[in-house]
Amino acid sequence: MKNTYAMPPYKIKMIEPIRLIGKEERILRLKEAGYNPFKLRSEDVFIDLLTDSGTGAMSHFQWGALMQGDESYAGSTSYYRLESVVKNITGYQYIMPAHQGRGAEQVVIPALLKHPGMIFISNTHFDTTRAHVEIAGAIALDAPTKESCETLKFHPFKGNFDLIKLEDIIKSYKKENIAGIIVTITNNSVGGQPVSMENIRAVRKIANHYGIKVIIDGARYAENSYFIKLRETEFSNKSVRDIAKETFSYADIFLMSAKKDGLVNIGGLIAIRDDFELFRQCQTRIVPMEGFPTYGGLAGRDMEALAVGLDEALSEDYLAYRLDEVKFLGDRLREAGVPIQYPTGGHAVFVDCGLMCPHIPYDEFPAQAVTNELYLEGGVRAVEIGSLLLGRDPQSGINRKADQEFMRLTIPRRTYTFQHLEYVAETLIKVYQRRDKIKGLKFDYESPILRHFTSTFTPKN
Ligand code: F0G
Repeated sequence: MKNTYAMPPYKIKMIEPIRLIGKEERILRLKEAGYNPFKLRSEDVFIDLLTDSGTGAMSHFQWGALMQGDESYAGSTSYYRLESVVKNITGYQYIMPAHQGRGAEQVVIPALLKHPGMIFISNTHFDTTRAHVEIAGAIALDAPTKESCETLKFHPFKGNFDLIKLEDIIKSYKKENIAGIIVTITNNSVGGQPVSMENIRAVRKIANHYGIKVIIDGARYAENSYFIKLRETEFSNKSVRDIAKETFSYADIFLMSAKKDGLVNIGGLIAIRDDFELFRQCQTRIVPMEGFPTYGGLAGRDMEALAVGLDEALSEDYLAYRLDEVKFLGDRLREAGVPIQYPTGGHAVFVDCGLMCPHIPYDEFPAQAVTNELYLEGGVRAVEIGSLLLGRDPQSGINRKADQEFMRLTIPRRTYTFQHLEYVAETLIKVYQRRDKIKGLKFDYESPILRHFTSTFTPKN
């Protein structure tokens, strides 16, 4: 291994055994799971790259903090500790925990709607965000930069908004019908790709011009801030913490799935800059949905672990290694010709299965087919981020076609070693070498909402 990658700034204190079951058993388990890896038991998975959400390892500081959880129903000391950390990072006034990101979404998104049929515009809505927008009777439109579609071509900020498209949408739907602009950092669905500060500033300017609220969907805001430091010269000497603070200064609301850059196994956050009326509304809504505003679905101990994790995720040694893990896997795959979203983003390598298997039509889900083959080949579990995940158009019922058919190899934080990642690369390269023989899938059962989680399939002949 060329030693051009950052060193992990930690050592291992506790281990969790993993085991590769035999090939015959993997064939059986995948069939039982209806060719949907979400339905596999984790004990039947060797290396689990389904998600980086809640799957990371906590530090001994976090485990220590866990013991200090104050489990009071109201006014918990742990809440105030968490509130102080989040205020410090964001500069926002009103902070509420939620049980995870989608908990925060279900509280805030409907509170931003003045009438039915309003529009949210995002660089790309994450799937649960899109679902909450649609459940609330609103419409989710995406305006990602065109560069995000050119997977093989380098661009430093493929997560950006297409600013012209953003403004066109506002003009054509009229500003009074726009409920908010959602800045997803990093932009998960196009490859965990970063959004530049320049782009965020421009979004704020447009929002100010039309009087629209800006919401940061910041599950991976720390990774985004580190990319800004690495790739935007103005920020090369600024700390990641200052970059994050500036990022938040351009928004009104921060929604967070803390299971990513919060370095915890469960948790979410709502932070509101200064809109007291909105805060009141969310405070009312959170009680029946998530819980009393000082716990929002979390135990006191969860809030303690999160308060510590949020600070740890801003450590630049940690972030350098984190991004290099992803880069390492991406480099190995590119060397073997596997088409990936390039450069790699913050939390995962996204394999372009549309390019890899052009013989499989989009509505036979090429990335899901490759994901299944990867499991069969070596017990590695990845996830489809393509037309299966995108679902059907709510009006017409037609299968929506994703811009890319991605398979995401998502890297849990502080969990796997470079050796594990080397194995993942070798396994996928074997699948790549027999890509022409991979077959598409058809539904056995199609779930009506967020269908990728629970649908089942049969491989085509
Ligand atoms: N926003 C983004 C950008 C996300 O990536 C996620 C979750 C959420 C919101 C919802 O948060 O899961 O805590 O309710 N992403 C996970 C993933 C599930 O695998 O990418 P949640």
